[in-house]
Amino acid sequence: MSTVPALANGGEGATPRHVAIIMDGNGRWAKKRFLPRAAGHRAGVEAVRKVTRAARAMGIEALTLYAFSSENWRRPESEVSDLMGLLRLFIRSDLDELIRENVRLRVIGDYRRFAPDLVEMVDDALARTAGNTGPILAIALNYGAQAELIAAAKALAADAAAGHLNPETIDEAAIEARLDTRDLPPLDLLIRTSGEHRLSNFLLWQAAYAELLFVDTLWPDFDGAALAEAIGSYGRRQRRFGGL
Ligand code: IPE
Ligand code: IPE
Ligand code: MG
Repeated sequence: MSTVPALANGGEGATPRHVAIIMDGNGRWAKKRFLPRAAGHRAGVEAVRKVTRAARAMGIEALTLYAFSSENWRRPESEVSDLMGLLRLFIRSDLDELIRENVRLRVIGDYRRFAPDLVEMVDDALARTAGNTGPILAIALNYGAQAELIAAAKALAADAAAGHLNPETIDEAAIEARLDTRDLPPLDLLIRTSGEHRLSNFLLWQAAYAELLFVDTLWPDFDGAALAEAIGSYGRRQRRFGGL
């Protein structure tokens, strides 16, 4: 994927090709209701269903969802295990719909660090949607942008050391070809819910010229209407990519 598309899009009601979301605020949603954090995560999965369906209906080519960061291992073991349980549940309950809807599932991040049974489930889900030709749903699992860039740097260094690559020729495309997002269109719009104004190690390279949108809505309350509103606000932006 390239961070700077040849043709500027956005403005005049344009639909973004690639939207990424930092799905934040599950814990606070639960707290407001005097519920355990796990209930917030469960409600968050329902929001994932609504938003992925709405994104398909709107003709968005790729949707990338930040589900588990490489820093989320710092949470209590019980919460990490609740999140893993929900991922299992989501694959079990929603994979058939994704297959039927011609969705191409992708994962960014080092999901192989997960429990072996979950890695197997994810691999199976990827394989079963690999032949699809429709919209891309990319899930960020144990994803960290810095780790992604380190892996790309290592791959470049290995190619150079093996004599396959002249370091002088390394350019944006050479790096992009080694990122987890290499199959995805350029990132147009990055949304973060819950009122936090930070990227938390998400898509740092890819966000170079993405439009950023921070909304106060807590993730479990985000739905198709909220996505439509976000797309509307994207359509009113003027993207310049350094030009005029
Ligand atoms: C986002 O909600 C879900 C994940 C990080 C997996 P949080 O769990 O971060 O919710 P808050 O930020 O504590 O409200
Ligand atoms: C970012 O949210 C990660 C995901 C949404 C998966 P966090 O809640 O983990 O981010 P911080 O810790 O507030 O920066
Ligand atoms: Mg959070």
